[in-house]
Amino acid sequence: MKAPVRVAVTGAAGQISYSLLFRIASGDMLGKDQPVILQLLEITPALEALKGVIMELEDCAFPLVAGISGTDDANVAFKDADYALLVGARPRGPGMERKDLLEANAAIFSAQGKAINDNASKDIKVLVVGNPANTNALIAQRNAPDINPRQFTAMTRLDHNRGMAQLATKLGKTVNDIKKMTIWGNHSSTQYPDLHHCEVDGKVAVDQVEQDWYEGTYIPEVQQRGAAIIKARGASSAASAANAAVDHMRSWALGTAEGDWVSMGIYSDGSYGIQEGLIYSYPCTCKDGDWTIVQGLEVNDFSRARMQATEQELAEERDAVSHLLP
Ligand code: NAI
Repeated sequence: MKAPVRVAVTGAAGQISYSLLFRIASGDMLGKDQPVILQLLEITPALEALKGVIMELEDCAFPLVAGISGTDDANVAFKDADYALLVGARPRGPGMERKDLLEANAAIFSAQGKAINDNASKDIKVLVVGNPANTNALIAQRNAPDINPRQFTAMTRLDHNRGMAQLATKLGKTVNDIKKMTIWGNHSSTQYPDLHHCEVDGKVAVDQVEQDWYEGTYIPEVQQRGAAIIKARGASSAASAANAAVDHMRSWALGTAEGDWVSMGIYSDGSYGIQEGLIYSYPCTCKDGDWTIVQGLEVNDFSRARMQATEQELAEERDAVSHLLP
């Protein structure tokens, strides 16, 4: 058996975590041979609820769980952490403008970025799930000067998985037939699900669907899927979001399959003309615990316009909180 790794999860008494923690504890994220110590963070009023979640985790008697702790102190939760899943965030309240939401979250993610910087393993892998995920990741990253910015990522894997599932349904296939799905940009309604490089049965996906369907149905449905789930379920995606978080971390830690790639919100190095330093979703391959942006994909005018629109939104989000960035 390997030595245990420390996995910090914030928002641990929330909906996503109610699915996520049990998947991590059962070995779905880091492998069935990797013991984990769970370090759970919540705000003070949710500590009682967190206690209940910890009791349930204990009652599962997961063989891979080498320890569980719960706290409302970020310095404690991130102590020596090898992985962090930042799920807890401030939801949009009544009458709250987008700018207010960005600012409220900037306060949370600045403090957590600092706590990660001061306490976590310098090799920590951070995934931000809490919305606005890309900008929250940017804020945490900017507050952690001693940690390589490549180690801060944002989740667009749910969008990636949604894109694969909807394409499979359209073509009467399964997700196993689909490779090289790409989500570019922000985890928001400006994200761009790109089928020009995606392959279904080894052939280019965009050639197998009508342009009208791609532009008028597919792209908006992938972009708006989160809202459709809220409308149907009366609550936002939870189990599927947890599943995507597990997928994201597993790909990053254990690698992507040969001949395929995944979508990850990562620190832009300027690839594909995107502003350096934004947390932008790119197609990535992963190996040995590190990611690489897939290079050399041809970008036509249709794609370029959409990649730039979502880049623009991310730049605006960054500018809205720039006074709070170190
Ligand atoms: P939830 O409201 O059920 O749970 C959030 C939890 O975070 C609550 O228990 C709350 O007490 C806690 N929390 C709030 N501030 C905190 C802080 N400063 N430190 C630690 N914990 C804190 O929400 P749910 O459904 O679990 O969603 C969590 C976040 O994930 C939301 O921001 C949601 O918008 C986002 N999300 C992101 C997706 C993505 O694809 N990137 C998909 C679905 C949801």
